[in-house]
Amino acid sequence: MPPVLPPWVSDPAGPAAREIVPVYWIMFAAAVVVLVIVYGAIFYAGIKYRERPGVAAKQFHGHNLLELLWTVIPTIMVISFSVLSFQKLLILNDVDTGTEMTVKVTARQWSFTFEYPKEYKGISFALRDQSALKVGEELHIPVGTKVKLEMRAEDVIHSFWIPNLGGKMDVIPGRPTYLAIQADRAGTFKGQCYEFCGDGHADMLLRVVAHPTSEYAAWARTAIADANLPLDPATARGRELFLSQACVGCHLVRNTSAAGKVGPELTKMGSKANIAGVLSPVNVDNLTRWIMDPQVVKPGTAMPDLNLDEPTSRAIAQWLATLK
Ligand code: CUA
Repeated sequence: MPPVLPPWVSDPAGPAAREIVPVYWIMFAAAVVVLVIVYGAIFYAGIKYRERPGVAAKQFHGHNLLELLWTVIPTIMVISFSVLSFQKLLILNDVDTGTEMTVKVTARQWSFTFEYPKEYKGISFALRDQSALKVGEELHIPVGTKVKLEMRAEDVIHSFWIPNLGGKMDVIPGRPTYLAIQADRAGTFKGQCYEFCGDGHADMLLRVVAHPTSEYAAWARTAIADANLPLDPATARGRELFLSQACVGCHLVRNTSAAGKVGPELTKMGSKANIAGVLSPVNVDNLTRWIMDPQVVKPGTAMPDLNLDEPTSRAIAQWLATLK
């Protein structure tokens, strides 16, 4: 896999992002020109006409030509930007033409969850219980495929944004909103919730992983497979502890007695990049810290502090890290 790219709009990796980039630069350039002219005039006038020994500052009110200019020029600029934006919106808002795959996105404080279609081009996303694969924080798509996102919010307004792949779209409680994304090259693209949504807003991160078409089916097979149940005695203890604690009330680990539906599924915890979407990479130390003190790692998270001691937490973390 290529390295994870920093999220930046000027490096488009898909058609929607490419539509946006020229508008971005035109507006940026216009803003720079306005900044230079306005501040240039302020400094020029401030220095040239300042009151100093032998020079009295001139007092005057109103200047018809200037007032006309700074009304007309911004009006023309704003109208031009609007026309440009609406043209692009017509293209970006067409989420249906050429769409091959639809993924349901659920936003809540503070994570995004992705539910795949049960079947896509012969690739199955159906789990053993016939429900469709549903995973938090990471969306996997095939390269060159237009994917329509059908997005809903469970609590407050969020906003979905993958800068390298396309525009932003608010995710609103009560009615679905739609966004189409497409990646032209394989890679991992970072994203971020872009609407302030409470304590954990900054931690509401996501990633889109684009796989070469030839590798997508293989990824899907791994994704729907049950958890590898380790026979390693070193992690068997952690499994036993996990299954005997309150963890199972909220979390699902396929093919075990953990069948909770409240929290994120943990079947593939060990192959996730980050814990609960925050910047902590998945490893035993970070998982231990997360289990012992979730509110410090992700303030406001729904994950409760179960008051487990360090050895118990570490044993559970060791097992979770093996779930791939
Ligand atoms: Cu969700 Cu900010």
